[in-house]
Order: sequence, then structure tokens, then C-alpha cells
Amino acid sequence: MDWDTDFDRIDLQAPPPESEPQRQYYYITKCRRYAEEKSRELGRPLRFCTTTFGCQMNARDSEKLTGILKQIGYVPAGEEDADFVIYNTCTVRENANLKVYGRLGALNNRKKKNPHMLIALCGCMMQEPQVVEKIRTSYRFVDLIFGTHNIYKFAELLAKRLSQDTMVIDIWEKTDQIVENLPVERKYAFKSGVNIMFGCDNFCSYCIVPYVRGRERSREPEEIIREIERLVADGVVEVMLLGQNVNSYGKNLAHPISFAKLLQRIEKIDGLLRIRFMTSHPKDLSDELIEVMANSDKICRHLHLPLQSGSSRILKAMNRRYSKEQYLALVERLRAKIPDISLTTDIIVGFPGETEEDFEETLDVVKKAHYDSAFTFIYSKRTGTPAARMENQILPEVVKERFDRLLELVQHTSAQTAGRLEGQTLPVLVEEVNRQDPKLLTGRLSNNLLVHFPGDASLIGTIVPVCLSESKGFYYLGEKRE
Ligand code: 5AD
Ligand code: SF4
Repeated sequence: MDWDTDFDRIDLQAPPPESEPQRQYYYITKCRRYAEEKSRELGRPLRFCTTTFGCQMNARDSEKLTGILKQIGYVPAGEEDADFVIYNTCTVRENANLKVYGRLGALNNRKKKNPHMLIALCGCMMQEPQVVEKIRTSYRFVDLIFGTHNIYKFAELLAKRLSQDTMVIDIWEKTDQIVENLPVERKYAFKSGVNIMFGCDNFCSYCIVPYVRGRERSREPEEIIREIERLVADGVVEVMLLGQNVNSYGKNLAHPISFAKLLQRIEKIDGLLRIRFMTSHPKDLSDELIEVMANSDKICRHLHLPLQSGSSRILKAMNRRYSKEQYLALVERLRAKIPDISLTTDIIVGFPGETEEDFEETLDVVKKAHYDSAFTFIYSKRTGTPAARMENQILPEVVKERFDRLLELVQHTSAQTAGRLEGQTLPVLVEEVNRQDPKLLTGRLSNNLLVHFPGDASLIGTIVPVCLSESKGFYYLGEKRE
């Protein structure tokens, strides 16, 4: 548990406390009274459904929303049956926004039939003023809108909505506050994301994240360690440390500490077996970190190292602050020190001004870096970013043609790279019963690749040796060894 309070003993006759998280405990209790009354009326518990768009940060935020809702008394359900629907949105590419508007249209029809239904929107998209304006005027059936900085206030905002008839909107432009110790409900019993920092100061010229997630803020190492110790006591064996740029962790703390030093402290936690982290910015990946990784048997053999483009000219226009040569030299250093490391990446095709030659530089890096997988994106113009104002935007048909060529190369090269472990027996953390075939279990290698193998559900959450009998490109079929 990440909190220790007895909600039933909170006095709702008293005014709400000023300090956090006590103030939120008070509002959780207040919402509980509503949920109790409403579920008596309906003859069943209230149901909720949280839909998460976007990255691991959002997934972790959704676990926080779920933790609060469960304390209030809501039980999970599918969207069709939910009394409370929450969309935790992403705005990194235009597509993500369009999906939300599409689904909202369908929700409106359901709400007409179930007027007590509540709809909340939160996450990155809500940090854009034009989005909030559009929802306020054209999607008036939405009950609650909040952003990325005040997610901890969810219960307070819900209580406000329950006490008035109109939409509640609360968006903060920025914050330097980090509220700890609120309820969190993990999706998996044995693994968990852990935020180590929030926001981003890099301002890559295409990216909207620094505008919607705000300035970089690191959590105190003691808070992070305490959270992980509690998670481990609660059955967690693997943590994923989350930040937009974990390699610059700790630089702005009152007592600065490097990410590598934080990892060394986390490694000492007894009972914790695996440590992952994401995302690493190549410009900040230190030799100290490579050394710590190389000497660790808990830090997983995987690095997500976004390339974005292989052309030094485009990288400069993207404000990435590394060149093609520096990136490839870093890959070489990593492979020399950690030979079994798996590298994955993100690549954007069609950034303004990208020529055929620039694009070929990207293909060249893909050939040389030997990625286990690569997420490929078509450049999406985000209002407010410097790249959106650049001339020479690339024609969609040119981008599509390049995108297809890149995808083909990536699929070919990553299948070869990811298949290199065929025949070896390696430790696998069992995650779940296979979704297609219930006779199989699905587990994850240290290097993040998935393995499907016959086994019993009682193994979930344990690490077992599995022989990787057959590579299927981006996953393996295997057999458990004793
Ligand atoms: N267009 C396309 N892809 C983008 N990304 C970030 N912003 C954009 C954009 N405007 C990609 C980057 C980043 C990943 C999370 O999303 O590759 O690493
Ligand atoms: Fe966006 Fe660049 Fe920050 Fe990543 S490092 S979140 S791409 S601005």
C-alpha cells in the first residue's frame, strides 16, 4: 500500500484539510458517501472504466486514477457497462486526438440513455487550450476535465462535480508540486511502473510533451526508494523507472544525484529482481550509466534509445543535440561493454525539410545499429511547436513512400537481431496466461522480448528458465527447463 489512512474515520463535518495528501483523503471519503448512496439506489456497485492512450507515464497515471476510484467504491467494468468513463489522453501525434473525439461521439449516445453516467477527460491533450475550448463548447456532456499536473486532485474534482450541475474544468499550466502517498492500483501484482521524474526540458522541435507535461522535476531519491520498498513488500519483483528523459534525473534536486547513482541505490533493495527504465535520451547517456548497467545483474539488458533521424542535419533541426556519428559511437560503446544488450528505438519519417539523402542516412543507422525493434512514426505537425512553423513540410505521398521503405527494413533487420538467442535457455519473468492460447504462458526476457511456452498459471510472477526453441521474429516459442 502506498498510503496509510482509515478513510472511515475522517470527519466530513470538519472543513477539508489544507495539506496534501490529507485533503485528498477527505475528498475520497466524501465521494464514498455518494458511491454508497448511489449503489444502494441501483442495487449494485458503481462501475468504472479507464481507457489509457499513449505512453507508460499515462499507464501509470491511470493506475493512480484506478486506486482512487477503488477507494471511493467503484469496481472495474468494460466501457459499455461503466457508470464512470475516464479517458486518459495523449496528444503526441494528431491521430491520438482524433481517436478521442471519435469515441466521445459514441459516449454521448450512451449518456443520453444513462443520465447518471459520468465522463472525465484528463492527460496531455487537456493541456492544450484549444482542445479544452472545443470540448467545452461542442462536447457539453463531458463532466470533468483536468490535466497532467493536478491528477492527484481527482477525488476533489469529482466531489466538486457531484455538488454542482455543470462541467468542472481544472487545468494548471505548470506545477512544482509532487504529491506523494495517494492510493494506486497496479495492473500487475508482480511488476510496477515508478515515476522518478516528471516533465521534459529538451524541447525537441517537433515535440509537444514539454508544453503539456511541463518543466523537468525529479522526485527525491528517498521517496523513490521508499515507494519501491513498499512495492517489493507487496509482491513486486520488477520495476520500470519512468521519466521522459531518465538520464538527466536528479540534476535539479537540492542535493543533485546522477541516474546511475540512483540505480545503484535501487539495486540494493532486497527482493527486487529486475530494474527497467525509460526513456533514455542519447545526448545524456553517460559512461557512468553504461558501467553501472554492465556490472549489474538486476538492471535489464534493454535500452530504448530514440534515434528520431539518422541525418545529422535533421537532428540539428530537431534540436536533438547529437549527430549521426555520436549516436553510432554510443551504440558501439554500449555493445562493447554490454554485449547482450538489446536496443530499441523511435524514428520519425517526414520531418520538415527531410530529403531523400537525409532519409537514406536514417536507413543507414537502422542497418548499423541492429535494433531488436523500432517504433516508426510519420511526422505529425503539433501546433505550438517550432517544427510546425517550419516551411518545407513534406508531401504526404513522399512521406508514405519513405515510411513503407523504413518499415520493411526495420522488420527485416529486427527479426534477424531479435532471433539471435534461438536455442539458448534464459530466465523469463512469467507475466500472464497467453491471450490467444490458454495452454501457453507469456513471459519476458531481461532484454524485453516476449516468450510463449506451455505452463501453469501458478508460475505467474516468478522467474523460470526457458529454452528459446524457435524465434518468430519479434517473439519466441519456448519450453520451460527445470
Ligand atoms: N510526430 C511524430 N512522432 C512524434 N513523436 C513525438 N512527437 C512526434 C511528432 N510530432 C514520437 C517520437 C518520440 C515518440 C514517443 O513519439 O519518436 O520518441
Ligand atoms: Fe519530446 Fe524530446 Fe522531451 Fe522526448 S526528449 S519528450 S521527444 S521533447
